[in-house]
Order: sequence, then structure tokens, then C-alpha cells
Amino acid sequence: MRSVKIAPSILSADFARLGEEVAAICAAGCDYVHVDVMDGHFVPNITIGPDVVKAIKPHAQCPLDVHLMIAPVDLYIDAFAEAGADIITFHPEAGPHPHRTAQAIRNAGCRVGLSLNPATPISVLDHLLDLTDLVLVMSVNPGFGGQSFIPSQLDKISAIRERIDASGRAIELEVDGGVNRETAGQAIAAGADVLVAGTATFKGGSAHYAENIATLREAGQT
Ligand code: DX5
Ligand code: ZN
Repeated sequence: MRSVKIAPSILSADFARLGEEVAAICAAGCDYVHVDVMDGHFVPNITIGPDVVKAIKPHAQCPLDVHLMIAPVDLYIDAFAEAGADIITFHPEAGPHPHRTAQAIRNAGCRVGLSLNPATPISVLDHLLDLTDLVLVMSVNPGFGGQSFIPSQLDKISAIRERIDASGRAIELEVDGGVNRETAGQAIAAGADVLVAGTATFKGGSAHYAENIATLREAGQT
């Protein structure tokens, strides 16, 4: 049985109390803090930048999993690394040189994540797996929390799981968008080992964070 990590997306947190919220989900047992960075250009929403990552870092007792939904990417890698990102995940759709971007993230001392939008084929991984520590499958079109899981991505998750297992590399397979008690089990069964969950983690307030995280983690045990 594969161990499952839970990465709450702080896009669904109370932005007026982000430090407290980050501390609360870490205390509630999450494995990563998923930080959704959006620029209003690559995706139709604007969220936070490196200064906010720097501000929340002292409150995080677990790694910051920074998801860059921005274009261009390369200009900002060092700023997010210096702000405290542990994983920097980018979209190969965001620029012409994803191999160079992955090299730059490695050189900045961070783990490299590659995020695939729903319409992006897995062939984009063909010449990048040796530079990749995490593959993030978008199960929604990026830009907003609270959307519905796109079931067609389950086949993609399974295909990527096969690619990762065949590579023999310790690459994490993360799924992001519309993950809840129902879809978590499907994603895990398809091959995911890290689940991003915003709405499903933060629903009900901080008294429920530990229970919500445990529910998602156990979804794959049934
Ligand atoms: C969407 C983000 C996701 C989103 C997940 O662009 O990348 O991380 O915040 O939110 P939920 O879990 O509510 O779908
Ligand atoms: Zn995300």
C-alpha cells in the first residue's frame, strides 16, 4: 500500500490570517503546504508572490510546495527559492524552454515539480523526467479552488504512474483540483501519492482540519 501525502492548498485558507492557517494545517498533520501562485496572465486569477511565501515560511512546520501558475517562470525562480520554497512546480506550457527552467529550479536548491494542465499530453515529460522530482496532474483547469474534478485525468494519472515506475526514479505523483472524500480514492487508485486539497481541507474551519486531512489520507485505504 503506497503511503499518501496531503498537501492543503492555502488558496482556500483565510488570507487575512495566512500565518495562523499555515501553522494550523501543519499542526493538523499535513505533509506539504501547497502554495498557489497565480499571475492573472497564465491563469485568470491573481494570488500571492514571493513576499507572502517569505512571510508564511516561519509558520510552516512542513515543506512549502509552491505551484507557479505564472508565465514567464525563469525570472522568479530565485525569488521563490530565497523566500523558502522547498518544491517549485511550474507549467511547461508557460514557456519555450522547460528543460532550462527545470535546471534553474535545481540550481536554486529546490525540488522540481512539473504540472500538466488537463489538455497537456504526458509526452511533455519525455525529456524532462531525469530533472523531475514531482509530477503534478491538474484535475481542474487552473485558476480557482472549489471546481469539480475532471474524471478524464484518471487515465493520465495511471499512465504517468506507469512511466514513473518504469523510470525507477523516486518521483512523486501529485493530483490537484477537486480532490475530496470521493475523488481522493479514485486518484489514489489511479496511482497518485500526493493529494492537493483546498476546499476539502479548510471546510468547517480549523477545528476540522485534522479530521479533513485524515479523511483524505484514508480514502485510498478502502
Ligand atoms: C487551482 C489550484 C489548486 C486549487 C485546489 O488552480 O492549483 O491547487 O487551489 O483547490 P480545490 O481543492 O478546492 O479544488
Ligand atoms: Zn495548485
